[in-house]
Amino acid sequence: MAANVLHADLGDPEADITSHDTYLRGFPHAAFRRLRENEPVSWVDDSAEGGFWAVTKHADVIEVSRDYNRFTASRGIRIEEMADDELEARRTLMEFDPPDHTRLRRLVQPGFTPKVVTTYESAFRSLVGHVLDDVLALGEFDFVTEIARELPIRMLCRLLGVPESDSGKMVDWGDQMISNADPEYTPVIIDKVDTEEYRLLPFRSPAALEIFRYAEDIALERRQEPRDDIITTLLTAEPDGEPLTDLEFKNFFTLMMVAGNETTRHTISHGLVYLDNHPEQLATWMADPAASSELATEEILRASSVTMHFRRTATEDTEIRGVPVAAGDKVVMWYTSANYDDEQFADPFTFDITREPNNHVTFGTGRHVCLGASLARLEVRVFFEEFLSRVSGFEVGEPDRLRSNFISGIKHLPVAVQLR
Ligand code: HEM
Repeated sequence: MAANVLHADLGDPEADITSHDTYLRGFPHAAFRRLRENEPVSWVDDSAEGGFWAVTKHADVIEVSRDYNRFTASRGIRIEEMADDELEARRTLMEFDPPDHTRLRRLVQPGFTPKVVTTYESAFRSLVGHVLDDVLALGEFDFVTEIARELPIRMLCRLLGVPESDSGKMVDWGDQMISNADPEYTPVIIDKVDTEEYRLLPFRSPAALEIFRYAEDIALERRQEPRDDIITTLLTAEPDGEPLTDLEFKNFFTLMMVAGNETTRHTISHGLVYLDNHPEQLATWMADPAASSELATEEILRASSVTMHFRRTATEDTEIRGVPVAAGDKVVMWYTSANYDDEQFADPFTFDITREPNNHVTFGTGRHVCLGASLARLEVRVFFEEFLSRVSGFEVGEPDRLRSNFISGIKHLPVAVQLR
């Protein structure tokens, strides 16, 4: 591979962007580049889910994200078609528009503001240190199962006040839900078996029943013995006089466990692959870690773009980039494609840890911009600072990719490290 090229395989320009199998080879960059260049707002027939508009340009993703009057989140945020009762049963913060969204977001926001998140840095740094000191001594290991999978969930458990000894269960349930198209993680494969009996559960996954039961127990505990933690705030605060219902709480707890864990862990794994493939960038970072780590983190976030899309639904007959979109049409914002749009990024296929500005949309934008963005940034940055201060070199093997058109994930990543 040429020294500065980000991806060895850009895939088939005609790849089916809806197929989970397509993504086993990585994000189909060639297909999205073709769409950006020729048909930036294109109708994609999806026999299973009824078709949608694929929005692939950076400027259009921003327009759709920000205009909640024209593009509602309340009809669902995944490509999946949902009946009204499914939507009601599975609704979280993500599937509300203002003003209801504003009310809920105000309740959950305080623990995640940039200022508050800086106070978590030393706890996360010491967690990373402990895990690395145990694992790096092995010399060769699976980076995902030994390191990446461990860190964000253990931090999240601490923040939510969930016993760290339960973090293994959280990861397993999260894997089963978010990776619901991959047979390694679940027998209930979303596009292959009948999931009708689970249709009222998050991700149509039976694992949601277990996490719901767990959330009920935690809620009971906190109501009996309030603590100074985020869960107690959610259960006792009454936004505008209306407390969270039990279902709202269970759905929110599940959302946090999935959103706060899977995404950051895959970002860290992708980052390791990029650095292994770009020794000159790695050398720059290692030469002056403090000077490089913030911009390098942003470039890892842009390039990996782990959440590949979210959806909105048009509320009226309208246009995007002059293309007519009818009321009720699904509109899918492809963040990964936007992050490689050469109208926004010079040489988007070059991995450049000094890239500035770097206005990626990895965390979305507008009212639903990722609640955990500051936390995720902190975790990625601190992980690499600690890792790079302990190793003099490393080599990664072939990534084993997640079967998913939604999350760009790495399930296993062999790595060999040389310690300083
Ligand atoms: C690299 C890691 C992450 C990525 C790529 C990511 C991506 C995203 C994106 C694209 C959205 C916008 C959704 C939309 O517009 O519909 C979002 C929202 C959200 N994220 Fe993240 N996320 C990450 C980490 C986290 C973490 C660490 C947490 C929690 C601790 C979290 C919790 C949430 C929540 C609760 C929302 C919904 C916000 C709302 O609807 O107001 N995320 N995330």
